[in-house]
Amino acid sequence: MCGIVGYCGHRSAVEVVVSGLRRLEYRGYDSAGVAVGAHGRIVEAKKAGKISNLDAELAAHPLPAATAGVGHTRWATHGPPNDLNAHPHVSENGRVALVHNGIVENWATLRDELAAEGVVPVSDTDTEIAAQLLGRAVADGADLTTAMRQVAPRLEGAFTLVAVDAAHPDTVVAARRNSPLVVGVGDGENFVASDVAAFIEHTRDAIELGQDQVVTITADAVTVTDFDGNDAPTTPYHVDWDLAAAEKGGFDWFMRKEIHEQPEAIANTLLGRHDAAGRLVLDELRISEAELRLVDKIVIIACGTSFYAGMVAKYAIEHWTRTPCEVELASEFRYRDPIVSPRTLVVAISQSGETADTLMAIRYAREQGSKVLSICNTNGSTIPRESDAVIYTHAGPEIGVASTKGFTTQLVACYLLGLYLAQVRRTKYDDEIAAVVAELETMPDLVQRVLDDQDAVMRLADELVDAHSVLFLGRHVGYPVALEGALKLKELAYIHAEGFAAGELKHGPIALIEQGLPVFVVVPPRGRDQLHGKVVSNIHEIRARGARTIVLAEEDDEVAAGHASILLSLPKVSTLLQPLLAAVPLQLFACELATRQGNDVDQPRNLAKSVTVE
Ligand code: G6P
Repeated sequence: MCGIVGYCGHRSAVEVVVSGLRRLEYRGYDSAGVAVGAHGRIVEAKKAGKISNLDAELAAHPLPAATAGVGHTRWATHGPPNDLNAHPHVSENGRVALVHNGIVENWATLRDELAAEGVVPVSDTDTEIAAQLLGRAVADGADLTTAMRQVAPRLEGAFTLVAVDAAHPDTVVAARRNSPLVVGVGDGENFVASDVAAFIEHTRDAIELGQDQVVTITADAVTVTDFDGNDAPTTPYHVDWDLAAAEKGGFDWFMRKEIHEQPEAIANTLLGRHDAAGRLVLDELRISEAELRLVDKIVIIACGTSFYAGMVAKYAIEHWTRTPCEVELASEFRYRDPIVSPRTLVVAISQSGETADTLMAIRYAREQGSKVLSICNTNGSTIPRESDAVIYTHAGPEIGVASTKGFTTQLVACYLLGLYLAQVRRTKYDDEIAAVVAELETMPDLVQRVLDDQDAVMRLADELVDAHSVLFLGRHVGYPVALEGALKLKELAYIHAEGFAAGELKHGPIALIEQGLPVFVVVPPRGRDQLHGKVVSNIHEIRARGARTIVLAEEDDEVAAGHASILLSLPKVSTLLQPLLAAVPLQLFACELATRQGNDVDQPRNLAKSVTVE
C-alpha cells in the first residue's frame, strides 16, 4: 500500500504532488508528506494523519518554490504512524529525500551495516535505511540514477522508491520491484505515481513499467533502464478514465457513488463478450481452447471480498462445467503445499491487481506449471501482467476501501468464465449458455430496481444504529453473500458481524441467538429443489428464539415474507445469479449504518484499499 508521487515540470511541485496524493489517499492515510530540493538541501513537510493535516502544516510553514518534488501517503508497516515515521525520509547529509511503498525485508541487516559506519537512523522505518544508502552513494559522487541502480538491488522485498537529490533538484528518480509504479508523460512535465489517478488531471499518456526498472524523469525527458543501466522496454498507453470518474460525482461517499454505478459497471463488464451467433468470446483470454479442455481442476485464489466472489464462482463453475473447483484464501494457498499441476487452471481474483498475497500465490502456481487466469479491475496492474490470461472487469476506478462494484463485476466475470469453459468443454448446450447470458444482460436493470427501492434499508439503518452484533445467514450461493454482508458491516460500522451457512446454524451458531438479535437471511429463489424450504425452516428456528429476522427474498415470496420482521424484496432471478442482487442491499445497509455512526465510510480505520504487503 501507500501512495507515492513524483513530479518534474513547470508548475508548483508542492501543489501538484499534494493534489496527486489526495487522489491516492485511498491507498493509505496514516500520514502524508512532501519534499523538494532547494539551495542544496532537502526541505520537507510531513504530518501524521490525513492529508488535511499536511495541508495545515504547509499553510503554516510553506515550502520554497520548486518545480520538482516527491510525496507520499502512508499505510504503516514499519513503525507507528507518527510524524517521525512519515515519509519522505531524508538522508543524514540532507541530500536525498525518499518515499517508498512496500517493505524492505533485509532492512535490519542494512541498518546494522550503516550503524557500524556511524549512521544512526532517526525513525523506525525500513525506508530511512534506503534513504541513508542513497545519501551516501550521491555523497560518494554517483548521480541519483546511478545511486538508485546501486541501492535498489541490495534491497530485498517489495518496493517502489521515488527520490530527489537536493544537488540536482530538477530530477526525480524512481525504482520498482513488485510494487506499483506508472509514469505520466505530459507536455513539459512528467510524473511518477502509484496509480494514474495521481496525474490524470494533467495527462492521460502513461507508461507501464516492468519489474526491476529505474526511471529518471525531468520536465522534458523520461529514461527507463534496468538495474544494470541497460535501456529497458516500456509500454506506453492512453488512460481512458477521466477526472470525473475519480471524483465523487455528487455523492457524499465514493462508496455510495460506486454502489450506484453498479448497473453501468455490470453492463460494461458484459460488453462485447459474444459474437453475432451468440457464442462467448473473451478477447483477453490468452489460453487456447485446447489447453482449457485439458484442465482437470480449477483453483480460485483471492482475498477479502474477492474471495467471496470466488466462493460464488465455485457453485456456478462446477454446476456448468462439471470440473472440480476449489476456492482458497491466497494467503493460505502457497504455505500448505497445494496440489496443483500443469492441468490446473488457477483463477486469481483481485480488484486492485496489486494484492501481495494473491500475487505471491499466482507466482507459486506458475512455478508449479499451472496456467493462471486473473480477473481484475485495474489495467496494467501487476497481477494481470503476471498471469497467462486476464478477464478485466470494467468497473472503473474503485476508490471506497470497501469493495462494491468491484465485487459485483467480479461475479459477472466469474459467470462469463464459467459459461465460456462450459462452451469450450461442451458441458452445456449453446442455447443453455445463451439463456444464462441473456439473463445476465438483464442484471443492470434489475440491480437498478434494487437501488431505486431503498426505503426499507434506510429505515433499517435508523433502527439498528445502536446494534452491537448482527448475524447473516445464507445457503448455497447465499452463503458467500452472507459472509460478504458481514464483512461490509465489520469494515464500515466496526460492529461484530458474522456470516454463517444457514445449515450450520444448528451446529453451534444458534446459541448466539437472543431476544432482538438482528439476523439477515438470504432466501434463495423458489423452485430449486429443497433449498428454499430449508432456509425458511432456518428462519422459523431463529424467530422462535427471539431473533429479529431481516429477510432478503424474491418478490411475491409470501412464505418467506410471512417470517420476516423486515422484508427486503429482490427481483426474481435464477438461483446462481441471485448474489448480484442480494449483495446490493447489504452494501447499502453497511454504508448507511456507518454514515449514521459518523464513521469515515471511504477510509475505514486500519484498512487500505490495496494491500501490497503479505
Ligand atoms: C483489502 C481491501 C478489501 C479487498 C481485499 C482484496 O483487504 O480492504 O476490500 O477485498 O483487499 O483486494 P483485491 O484488490 O485483491 O480484490
